[in-house]
Amino acid sequence: MLRRALWGIGAVWRRCKRFTATTYYRLVLQAVGPRSTFSPPVLITPQTDVHVGADCRVWHGVTISGEHDRGSLILADRVEVNVGVHLDVTGGLDVGADVVISAEVMVYTHDHGHDPHAPPVYLPKRICANAWIGARAILLPQCQRVGAGAVIGAGAVVARDVPDGAVVVGNPAKIIGYRQTPQVAA
Ligand SMILES: CC(C)(COP(=O)(O)OP(=O)(O)OC[C@H]1O[C@@H](n2cnc3c(N)ncnc32)[C@H](O)[C@@H]1OP(=O)(O)O)[C@@H](O)C(=O)NCCC(=O)NCCS
Repeated sequence: MLRRALWGIGAVWRRCKRFTATTYYRLVLQAVGPRSTFSPPVLITPQTDVHVGADCRVWHGVTISGEHDRGSLILADRVEVNVGVHLDVTGGLDVGADVVISAEVMVYTHDHGHDPHAPPVYLPKRICANAWIGARAILLPQCQRVGAGAVIGAGAVVARDVPDGAVVVGNPAKIIGYRQTPQVAA
């Protein structure tokens, strides 16, 4: 009985924190669409240009950062950004509708050649509608387009563009097939 009550209190507490974080980000970000929520802690580099569509979920432990204040992020409608995801938005990141980014994925949009102290090279990236990025995948800056409905396997290291509907796995990621379920175009 006590345990159930404590679970209930925990749920209310988490809802309060989510409401507070969502309200805060509605105030500071350029746009946050209806019913989109942020579960704290979510860290976003100040001044980043962030546009979030409707019905998006940004889960706890997500970091959205850029090397400079001029990074930009667009999340279209119904995008799911799961726990512990890191989105580098230095070069600009555009995520299409219904994309799912699973836990602890890392997405990079800039590079430094062979010198980490060199000025960043900007490599904007688009993840097209309905793509699914499996847990702990890494999208390197040189992958600038993940095609509509593509599936990136868990743990993949993606160094090149991914065609529409392709399923890629491994390091470096290679195409093992094409998605069977019908997908909406980008
Ligand atoms: C890629 C994935 C969708 C499976 O696609 P699939 O087309 O059904 O592939 P299969 O399971 O038939 O596997 C085909 C081959 O790829 C390999 N493979 C599958 N997923 C792999 C992965 N993530 N990394 C490396 N190899 C993988 C399989 O071992 C198999 O190899 P084999 O032919 O030598 O036996 C799935 O494995 C995956 O990674 N899903 C993401 C899971 C996840 O992140 N969940 C988070 C919950 S939101």
